[in-house]
Amino acid sequence: MKKLRTIKGTHDILPNEIHKWKELESIVSQTCEQFGYQEIRNPIFEETGLFSRSVGEETDIVTKEMYSWEDVDGASLTLRPELTASVVRSYIQHNLGTISPIQRLYYSGPLFRRERPQKGRQRQFHQFGVEAFGSNNPEQDVEIIAIAWKILSLCGLTNDTTLNLNSIGSKECRNNYKKALKSYIYPYIKDFSKTSQHRFETNPLRILDTKSEKEQEILNNAPKISDYHNETDNTHFESLKEFLKDIDLPFSINHKLVRGLDYYTGTVFEFNSVNLGAQDALLGGGRYNKLVENLGGKPTPGIGFAAGMERFLIAMEQSDFNIKKSNPDIYFICADKKAISSSIKISSRLRGLNFKVVSDTLRRSIKSQLREANKLKVKYALIIGEDEIRNSTIILKNLIIGTQKTIPQSELKNFFEDLTI
Ligand code: HAM
Repeated sequence: MKKLRTIKGTHDILPNEIHKWKELESIVSQTCEQFGYQEIRNPIFEETGLFSRSVGEETDIVTKEMYSWEDVDGASLTLRPELTASVVRSYIQHNLGTISPIQRLYYSGPLFRRERPQKGRQRQFHQFGVEAFGSNNPEQDVEIIAIAWKILSLCGLTNDTTLNLNSIGSKECRNNYKKALKSYIYPYIKDFSKTSQHRFETNPLRILDTKSEKEQEILNNAPKISDYHNETDNTHFESLKEFLKDIDLPFSINHKLVRGLDYYTGTVFEFNSVNLGAQDALLGGGRYNKLVENLGGKPTPGIGFAAGMERFLIAMEQSDFNIKKSNPDIYFICADKKAISSSIKISSRLRGLNFKVVSDTLRRSIKSQLREANKLKVKYALIIGEDEIRNSTIILKNLIIGTQKTIPQSELKNFFEDLTI
């Protein structure tokens, strides 16, 4: 029979790595809440139109990467390839803007994109992210970027990471710039790849994203979008840069940064790590001031980012960030069938005192149970057999220093309560 395995580009997250995920999730939620963000959880699948209308009909995500299917009632549904669109849908559907003129939200969860799998790129991957609705001021941009920086710093990643920053300006700015960029590229168009030639017609800004060295060289002398910023674009971007300097958050201006989703307006940014190889973007985001309106809501500015959790974990491993595994406190060894009932009762009481207690359910020899306890890196083993039941005692073994003593069961509670395990 054919062996059943995970689908290409998807991974099981096994018990021996789950502590890293929990640590990252806890850093994310604590930091977001410190900035006043509240968690939101959206469905894994949505109407396909939500993504084509927001991410953009011509983007790689929508044209090539979505997992879509026709439902029994004929509706076209899609496994979410990103979360901003879902959060915006939710913001509109539940009138979140009426609760407060500023809504600060954060999230984490799985996403699906049918990309070519490689290191740091899966077909099912996980993101955490934040979105803030209501403010078009640069202090909102700096707040969003500061959250990303704080999380990167708590994960020990700031030394190996660069903040790349750009502003793709207003619609008017982008339209003028697209014309200028096309006129610049036109004489070289036959030197560009089929993909770039297609983008020349459909979405010329995305040509700036090319990975081809030859194309990049030609683009080095291309006009810069900042030369097409209007006064409002300029003032906003200059203030953002000043605010970033105020909090000593280092950045690098990257005129070619445009991002691969169509909803962006104005500020865009990415944090790139030197430790990730080809897929070096740890986190990306920007402003999307027209998205709420385009999806049927009242005109509301928005800004946010999302980060790849798998990429964070790879980068954290490479920067030697030490994530402690939380081991059980006590291994309960039952040395005789007659002691099973007592061992269940005592373990339950100890769990009631908030200790993590593992008991053996295989009725193995004391030796194998001790071996298991050592494997789990447990500090204390409690052993109970016939003699101990008769005398209402228990054997307490410190597995770190190898000492053991017999104590009355009545003293157990005090012993463990006095301990900082
Ligand atoms: P994105 O740049 O498409 O933006 O994705 C954000 C991050 O998700 C990337 O920087 C990367 O770390 C991770 N990522 C993307 N695709 C994959 C993949 N196939 N495998 C592993 N990791 C991946 C967005 O999704 C926007 N919604 C971000 C945003 C939020 N903009 C405003 N608000």
